[in-house]
Amino acid sequence: MRAYEIVSDRGVDALALNERQTPTPGNGEILVAMRASAINYRDLSTIEDPLPRSIFYPRIPNSDGAGEVIGVGAGVTRFKKGDRVAGCFFQNWSDGRISGAAMASAMGGAIDGVLAETVLLEESGSVHIPAHMSFEEAATLPCAGLTAWNCLIEQGRLKAGDTVLLLGTGGVSIYGLQIAKMMGARVIITSSSDEKLERARDLGADELINYRQKPDWGARVLEMTDGSGVDVTIETGGGGTLERTMEATRVGGTISLIGVLTGGTINPTTVMRKSIRLQGVYVGSRRMFEDMNAAFALNRIHPVVDQKFEFEEARSAYHAMRAAGHFGKLVVKM
Ligand SMILES: NC(=O)c1ccc[n+]([C@@H]2O[C@H](COP(=O)([O-])OP(=O)(O)OC[C@H]3O[C@@H](n4cnc5c(N)ncnc54)[C@H](OP(=O)(O)O)[C@@H]3O)[C@@H](O)[C@H]2O)c1
Repeated sequence: MRAYEIVSDRGVDALALNERQTPTPGNGEILVAMRASAINYRDLSTIEDPLPRSIFYPRIPNSDGAGEVIGVGAGVTRFKKGDRVAGCFFQNWSDGRISGAAMASAMGGAIDGVLAETVLLEESGSVHIPAHMSFEEAATLPCAGLTAWNCLIEQGRLKAGDTVLLLGTGGVSIYGLQIAKMMGARVIITSSSDEKLERARDLGADELINYRQKPDWGARVLEMTDGSGVDVTIETGGGGTLERTMEATRVGGTISLIGVLTGGTINPTTVMRKSIRLQGVYVGSRRMFEDMNAAFALNRIHPVVDQKFEFEEARSAYHAMRAAGHFGKLVVKM
């Protein structure tokens, strides 16, 4: 079988497409023929800068993929041949709090990922995908979908009538938009592009802000919420956006901090003054993944796939991610 491998720190164009032996499923493992793999910003960062992340070569990139079970090892009870599945970002985080052991099982980072024709997954680190989704759609669930779900539902305790702030129109934010609308919340979303904002409106976004044209968007969000601020934010920006997000957050609101897209120094005083809950979020557990899939199946949610690439053109997908012209997700077909 063929697999992409990170074999150096020379970036996307140095990714190698190599032959590897097709693995055999052992105790508690399933063998999956991958049908699609979605790209996350983190996958691009991992390929471009593997050394600070302690990535050992060769390493198969990408956490996110979906496919069909073609083999089951001894003791496997939850899956059979032919089942449509996705692997969890953390192969070793079924439920409860995140742990060091979970972090050591991050696919496409600490362990091999899924940009390969066949992949071995832990039975306990795999889920069934919703029947109404294509493989390309379901491939976007494990990281981008689940992170947005954890930020809004688990950490944000979102309820109908709440207001959500989303920064940008990348993979996590657009999932945040779909989840927030499914839950009956109001959505304020920012983007550098008016065209992308209009696409967000088509998906149900209530208020649109172009952050290039309105660099003081934190104040604009306050105006849009009658001076009180939003209930929950998925903070994809990081250092360069967090102070304005704090400004835009209501007293006692929640900021789910996930992103590293921008750099900067932060004055944390507002966190104390407004009693903000500033919560770091790292994807989510298998139990959260199953809860999300049940909600998506019931509500017939279709993830937003912006562009698809052939397996042999996977490098182009990372270049597209760097160019940031996408809205939603970029997916490699297998
Ligand atoms: N902690 C976790 O578990 C976790 C999980 C997933 C992702 N992340 C992180 O979350 C971030 C987003 O990931 P992603 O996969 O959704 O990335 P993505 O699909 O590449 O989204 C990037 C988008 O972010 C927007 N953006 C860039 N700079 C911005 C700024 N200064 N203000 C507001 N928006 C800005 C842009 O949207 P416009 O083009 O609309 O301007 C850009 O297209 C990354 O830092 C990633 O590492 C963390």
